[in-house]
Amino acid sequence: MDAIRVRGSQKPLVGRVQVSGAKNAALPILCATLLSDGASKLRNVPKLRDIDTTAALLRFMGRDVTVSAPEVNVAAGSDVRPEAPYELVKQMRASVMVLGPLLARFGRAKVSLPGGCAIGARPIDQHLKALEAMGATIRLDRGYVIAEGPNGGGRLRGAEVVFDLPTVTGTENIMMAAALAKGKSVLVNSAREPEVEELGRILNKMGAQVSGAGTDVIEIVGAEPGALAPFDHAVIPDRIEAGTYMIAAAMHEGSDVVLEGAEWDDLEALVMKMRMAGVQVTSEGRDIRVRRTGDIKPVNVTTAPHPGFPTDMQAQFMVLMCIAKGESVVTETIFENRFMHVPELQRMGASVALRGNTAVVQGVPRLYGASVMATDLRASASLVVAGLVAEDETEVRRVYHLDRGYEHLETKLQALGADVARVKGAEG
Ligand code: EPZ
Repeated sequence: MDAIRVRGSQKPLVGRVQVSGAKNAALPILCATLLSDGASKLRNVPKLRDIDTTAALLRFMGRDVTVSAPEVNVAAGSDVRPEAPYELVKQMRASVMVLGPLLARFGRAKVSLPGGCAIGARPIDQHLKALEAMGATIRLDRGYVIAEGPNGGGRLRGAEVVFDLPTVTGTENIMMAAALAKGKSVLVNSAREPEVEELGRILNKMGAQVSGAGTDVIEIVGAEPGALAPFDHAVIPDRIEAGTYMIAAAMHEGSDVVLEGAEWDDLEALVMKMRMAGVQVTSEGRDIRVRRTGDIKPVNVTTAPHPGFPTDMQAQFMVLMCIAKGESVVTETIFENRFMHVPELQRMGASVALRGNTAVVQGVPRLYGASVMATDLRASASLVVAGLVAEDETEVRRVYHLDRGYEHLETKLQALGADVARVKGAEG
């Protein structure tokens, strides 16, 4: 397995980073290609393992998929094999998002339950409850969800669905199911993430009638079977990748970094917290500029569904608080086990005390390089960021986690002056 080796320094990061397309927008959009025949093209797609996994899943179903980053082309095959096997779903839980489109278009689906992951149990009960409200029959059999449309595979019916809690892929799964259901659906307490809003744009491009995507109430009038068309679309920039580089820029006194193509409106909660920490964050045309001129002030943060502070930025922000002048409190409310980066940061000299879903962080004058690893995509990224200022060398292992969500991570950091390299075949 590869590792990322970072040599820490006090040399500020200076330069420009091109933000890649959003992984968490591209994944549901690729699943939406199951809703139509014909050839769809998705542009600005990052070269990531999760994209390759989704392509493999669509090919398994009989779709003809060509991945040549930054483009992915999907052509409808003759038929579809409405199945998502465990071997693929276990690699990427977002595969569960084929359930809605398969049921809506083909009336049946056999999808492996994703199982838990490092950050939590991550059930899909909200997805399944909503599909049952639309007339689907769902049964669980040996780790698989076996789903059928009404009356043994008929067309889903529009319904009013109230989510018990905002779920991003749950909202996206049901939006795609509703796009071909008979009649109108109203999704209440929907997730409001930009990636959900982007999926709404795609479904409308395909001929669906979606309104309210990006708000907590989404209305969808189902199109007639066969009425949805393929699309050609460039995906929005990745706000979490951008946020990760914004934090990296804030780690060094004197840094001046421009994130090209970052979407300001998607990052407001993070920008506010970074400004409170004393970092200069400004909007420059279609870019975001981050400058650090003084000490980092301690700032308390609590993760929340969008537009609140993103859970996917919690680990990265905690690293910034590890070098702040004082005590801060980081509270994780979305996932039950999203502090795996803490023991690794403690090995680097950070002072963090965990109390349930709360971490109390005492800023320290310096961090020390170490061999570290994490099992969460964003936690792994946070350890690379910590390594940028840690004395000596930090080796972040099991970098395949990073390759799921960060395109050309070491190249982009090198372009800013960081001493970062990929080590092939390092021990796991
Ligand atoms: C999406 O995951 C993202 N993944 C995650 O990003 C992100 O961390 C998460 O949303 C929260 O923002 C993709 O978009 C592919 P949820 P998702 O359903 O949809 C509970 C990354 O780093 N829940 O919004 O799986 C769940 O356990 C990844 O790119 C239920 O209880 O998250 C969690 O506590 C990591 N029942 C909370 O809701 C359900 O049926 C929010 O989860 C569904 C979810």
